[in-house]
Amino acid sequence: MIEETFPGPTRPWWWQVYTLIRNPSYISKCLQKYGDPFYLMLEPKTPFLIFTDPTAAREIFTAHYNDVFAGPVSESLRPILGRESLLLIDGDKHLNMRRFMTPAFTGNAMRVYGSVIRDTTRKNTELWAKDSHVFIQGVMQNISLEVILQAVFGLKEGDRFQKYKQVLVDYISVFNGKNAIFLYSSAFQKDLGIFTPWGKYLKMVKVVDGLIYEEIKLRKKKPNQQDIFSRLLAIRDENGNGLSEKVLRDQLLTLLLAGHETTASALAWAFYWIHRDPQILDTLSCELQPFCNNFDIESITKLPYLDAVCRETLRLYPVIPAVGRLLQRPMSIMGHTLPAKTNVVLSIYLMHHRPDLYPESHLFRPKRFIEREYNSYEYIPFGGGARRCLGIHFAFYEMKIVLAYILLHFQLKLRSNKPISAVRRGVTFLPGGGVPMVIEKKIHQ
Ligand code: HEM
Repeated sequence: MIEETFPGPTRPWWWQVYTLIRNPSYISKCLQKYGDPFYLMLEPKTPFLIFTDPTAAREIFTAHYNDVFAGPVSESLRPILGRESLLLIDGDKHLNMRRFMTPAFTGNAMRVYGSVIRDTTRKNTELWAKDSHVFIQGVMQNISLEVILQAVFGLKEGDRFQKYKQVLVDYISVFNGKNAIFLYSSAFQKDLGIFTPWGKYLKMVKVVDGLIYEEIKLRKKKPNQQDIFSRLLAIRDENGNGLSEKVLRDQLLTLLLAGHETTASALAWAFYWIHRDPQILDTLSCELQPFCNNFDIESITKLPYLDAVCRETLRLYPVIPAVGRLLQRPMSIMGHTLPAKTNVVLSIYLMHHRPDLYPESHLFRPKRFIEREYNSYEYIPFGGGARRCLGIHFAFYEMKIVLAYILLHFQLKLRSNKPISAVRRGVTFLPGGGVPMVIEKKIHQ
């Protein structure tokens, strides 16, 4: 029994979940009190063993994919994403689906999305005027939603684009509401009518499904475009069979949801941190200066300081604070022999604040990524192993292009000097208050 072998809080599971949502620093207090590893009860009678050490990350991420499954953290997403979602399938089925989907997220494909990202950023900022006020979180959400709609569905401005956008905004807002974390717990996934969060959510699912199935039918008549949808439609197994409509629907929804809020929150954090410290803004502006008359996407996305700023942003407040796995056989992790069916969790947040790896971890210091190379078990904002985020290149690409475009065209300032703290929305950590900023100057080019 995990609870008998390892230390952890004895309060009821719902109290632990509630405290973790309301106060993200609770996890740091647990580490201080219990040491590494400790357990938390995040579901009734279900202990989750939390690790924060790179050795544990290596042992978990390099385990055979049949020995570590996605587990209950992902399982709670099943009614939201569908049982065929890449995030939820395991073993050979997962490996095959990943092989099919990976080409949509590599080199050449990325170049097509680059101009979509630049044009969407331009469109979302062209009306910004001197002295006007903006909430950066909201702007970034709009940009990332429009980018993902274009990259995944190939939708351009027009009626279908607007219809999709509205339905998805409504859908996302249901499970990104203040208390929506409860929607992710199977204990609360009960349809008790339209006035309960889950009942409201199920109604929205029907609307979203209707739209996606309609789009699948339309697309089958018009394949071969350069978006992710077309790539998924073109997939054939060794017998020449394509993906079923259900599988397609679940992957499309997964990409829309996994790729939207995460990148938007990361960007909002980046704007906040860059504008907290004039020296960081200066260094970054100098690096971007040669591109003020020539927005060369390929060169910009290779700039070392911009890269370090994006990495440091995802280190300090990783938008997904933890990843979990369910052991399928007994395994030794950091010398502890754990039985099959143990839920192990890597706290990305706690790993990224280890003083031995990241001195003065509370400070935003992009240079640490220039002074030292971190391996994929020490720096894990995208998880790792066979399940590492499929959108990692897409996310970095988008962050860099949006940041560079806005910093080259506008001078922004935070409206308040007060520090912002992290709040939880859905499964992501985002900056509280929406990051209010003012446009100080428009730089004409
Ligand atoms: C800053 C932005 C992002 C962050 C921090 C992030 C983080 C993560 C994390 C932590 C995981 C779980 C990995 C694991 O269990 O080891 C994940 C999985 C995933 N992400 Fe992302 N993600 C981001 C953006 C994106 C984008 C833009 C897309 C797609 C367009 C995407 C698609 C996916 C998919 C499909 C998975 C499931 C992979 C699998 O199970 O094989 N993500 N992401």
